[in-house]
Amino acid sequence: KEDYPISVQFDFNTGVFEPQEKSVERKVSDMVKMFHDKTAVESMIKAGDPLVYEIFYYGFKTSASDMALGTTRIQPGKVGDEYYMTKGHFHEAFDQPEIYFCVKGEGYLLMETREGEFQAEKWTPGTISHIPPMWAHRVVNTGKEPLVFVATYHLAAGHTYTEVEEKGFLKCLVEKDGKATFVLNDKRK
Ligand code: PA5
Ligand code: NI
Repeated sequence: KEDYPISVQFDFNTGVFEPQEKSVERKVSDMVKMFHDKTAVESMIKAGDPLVYEIFYYGFKTSASDMALGTTRIQPGKVGDEYYMTKGHFHEAFDQPEIYFCVKGEGYLLMETREGEFQAEKWTPGTISHIPPMWAHRVVNTGKEPLVFVATYHLAAGHTYTEVEEKGFLKCLVEKDGKATFVLNDKRK
């Protein structure tokens, strides 16, 4: 019944909650444009096209509201030297923010405006970040275990991926001498 309260049960360890409306898987082949090392992309796809991340989703729609819950689990791993990450997107609506809550793993939240402002937040379990409207957002898993985070936003926000697909973020996170290191995105040089 659409206007009644609903609770779901979330597992901090797996990032999965029940009940759930749907889940989505993203593999390396879904992110061909995002990773900078195209040779590594092709060989990983040929070698079995591994899973990069999953999204578990519930849209709490009532007759007067449209709050959504999404949890994301990013696997540990790299394509070439670049860590696994989400595709990243802008919200279509100009006035729609989002809250991200890191519950497991470690990494970075990358954010960037169309005017070229860039900000990266270091994430450990317990970090909660507010993403203001008009900031593109992507999460990178630089750790050795899955990174799990919870997101809440309004469905009215909408997702748009094309700009991030074409231009990426100002900086990429690569492993250098065993350490997570920011490098300038080739497309922005
Ligand atoms: O709503 C969000 O911002 C998140 O739930 C993301 O959709 C999720 O983390 C997956 O990232 P992306 O949508 O960039 O593939
Ligand atoms: Ni978003």
